[in-house]
Amino acid sequence: MSVEALALPVIEPSVAAGVQIFVATEAHYRHADRICSLIARAAAARGTGIAKRQPAYIRGKMAEGKAVIALSLQQEVAGFCYIETWDHGKYAANSGLIVAPQFRRMGLARRIKRQAFELSRERYPNAKLFGITTSLPVMKINSELGYKPVTFSELTSDNIFWQGCQSCPNYDVLTRMKRKMCLCTGMLYDPEAES
Ligand SMILES: CC(C)(COP(=O)(O)OP(=O)(O)OC[C@H]1O[C@@H](n2cnc3c(N)ncnc32)[C@H](O)[C@@H]1OP(=O)(O)O)[C@@H](O)C(=O)NCCC(=O)NCCS
Repeated sequence: MSVEALALPVIEPSVAAGVQIFVATEAHYRHADRICSLIARAAAARGTGIAKRQPAYIRGKMAEGKAVIALSLQQEVAGFCYIETWDHGKYAANSGLIVAPQFRRMGLARRIKRQAFELSRERYPNAKLFGITTSLPVMKINSELGYKPVTFSELTSDNIFWQGCQSCPNYDVLTRMKRKMCLCTGMLYDPEAES
């Protein structure tokens, strides 16, 4: 799929549950508060592995075309994910994955992650894609996309990425382990290894 095609709002109609997936734009700013509250609630429910985000940050990702949003026919937020880059574009991460509780177990996270992956590959073809997660569904989906489990030494050393973990209750573990390991599993898609 070309970058031009990705710039079109509708990427893929999801027959299941009538959910559509879009590359988010300024038109989706009004959903930023809802996305943050979904992330905050999921963080409270799981107690681990989810960094909280502010609406302004989410809107910034939408403005840059670095976010994927899933909306129901009633224009409710069904899910969201965004791209971040690190080490001057050497690494890119798909972060902030959230699916609203009423839309879970319908394959929506898989669709959102695939679209975020394709968007990342289009925009940053040479970047290593990575994520850190405690989530079994996310590990499954990443594996399907070609990610491999790695130690944190293979991931970005950019301080700002790791500072994003500060709102995680396990941040003390990460710092105690000198960022070498934590409760999350690191997963990496290396385009060179795949070519
Ligand atoms: C994790 C999350 C994104 C999954 O979303 P989802 O749309 O329900 O996931 P999918 O329906 O695409 O499922 C993908 C796979 O994971 C499995 N899965 C989904 N939820 C699961 C759960 N709670 N336990 C075990 N497996 C699960 C599915 O069965 C599917 O695997 P399969 O095809 O082999 O059956 C969603 O539960 C969520 O938003 N949780 C809170 C936020 C979060 O944890 N984000 C990830 C931070 S790294």
